[in-house]
Amino acid sequence: MERSLPAATPSASAAPADAVGGSRIGFENVSVTYGSLTVLQSLTLTVNPGEIVALIGPSGSGKTTALRAVAGFVRPSSGRIMIGDRDVTNLAPYDRKIGMVVQNYALFPHMRVEENVAFGLRAHGASEAVVRARVPECLAMVGMGAYAKRYPRELSGGQQQRIAIARALANKPQVLLLDEPLSALDAQIRRSMLDELAKLHRDLPALTVLYVTHDQTEALTLANHIGIMRDGRLKAFGGAQSLFRNPPNRFAAEFLGRANLLPVNDLQPAGEGRVSVRFGATVLKARNHHRLAKGSDCLLCVRPHDFKLGSSRPDANRLSGVVRSVQWQGDVHNVVVEVAGECIRLSSAPMREPPEPGASLDVHFDPADVTVVPEDGADG
Ligand SMILES: Nc1ncnc2c1ncn2[C@@H]1O[C@H](COP(=O)(O)OP(=O)(O)OP(=O)(O)O)[C@@H](O)[C@H]1O
Ligand SMILES: [Mg+2]
Repeated sequence: MERSLPAATPSASAAPADAVGGSRIGFENVSVTYGSLTVLQSLTLTVNPGEIVALIGPSGSGKTTALRAVAGFVRPSSGRIMIGDRDVTNLAPYDRKIGMVVQNYALFPHMRVEENVAFGLRAHGASEAVVRARVPECLAMVGMGAYAKRYPRELSGGQQQRIAIARALANKPQVLLLDEPLSALDAQIRRSMLDELAKLHRDLPALTVLYVTHDQTEALTLANHIGIMRDGRLKAFGGAQSLFRNPPNRFAAEFLGRANLLPVNDLQPAGEGRVSVRFGATVLKARNHHRLAKGSDCLLCVRPHDFKLGSSRPDANRLSGVVRSVQWQGDVHNVVVEVAGECIRLSSAPMREPPEPGASLDVHFDPADVTVVPEDGADG
């Protein structure tokens, strides 16, 4: 059975963590198995103190398992979990100095908001004076000061989730684990909660956060670093912007943001840190961030918004094709163009006179905006 969440909040009496790196989360070759099924494979990953790392990946890729291993609800079959310089692999959840929030709020329905927030404090023996001071403080942090007397059923989903966050912060954890905290909320509330989470982290800059999500926008908005999981393995890890700009493989390119991955070949040096590649009969230039070898067959990653319409600078890459579809989505036009047998997708600012399907279209893109990416290996 799932243990109730407040058990994961830290002990007020726990020994203070080390001054240096006290809240760093470290996975060291962590594997988790259920029977004969390995659901986490030798995960090695560091979340530095004060940093937000987002773990993203498809359903079943092991994100929650990784998070639960840090919380202490899942015991690794091998490897170590470190918090700061402490090996917590065999510590009870209680002793880990961690706050945790999950998707579906998990508030105690029979307790008022203030009792929910106080629960973890009381469980760890905090005095009434401490509870009286800390509960309003935590509610204020999430903008819910006026709701102390309500029951969870009297709150909206977004409000309940704010209370869950307040409860997770009550014991002043150094590490906050968030498992899809916004996924039960509708799109508009999700966006405002995202802003609030970003603000919360600005207010608590020392808090180290591991954030599990399906949603790449959440990851890109909040995280300093992003890990992309697939089938229990970490397929990519890097700074949010760098991973978006220079995905190390097809899976990372497609999972984090939309990408056109053009099959290209005959990679050759082209001076000024650029390489040239052949796409059908056209030679294109790109960055070679991953230092792929001369002669390689690979993929050219072009984000939809990197394609521009119309006249181009002389040094831009140019492609000509036939428009297959045009879709207006309010603030963008999405256009599919067939070029050399491949369908490429481009996003442009809304056009007054968008091209018609069947029309010829010239597009260009800057070599500085694109990189070549290796095709995934066998375990891709
Ligand atoms: N208690 C369990 N017993 C057996 N298998 C489990 C258990 N918990 C999780 N699994 C399996 O481990 C794998 C990883 O699950 P996990 O919950 O970590 O995925 P996830 O990436 O969080 O997915 P989602 O995005 O759907 O939440 C899945 O195949 C799941 O079925
Ligand atoms: Mg999950």
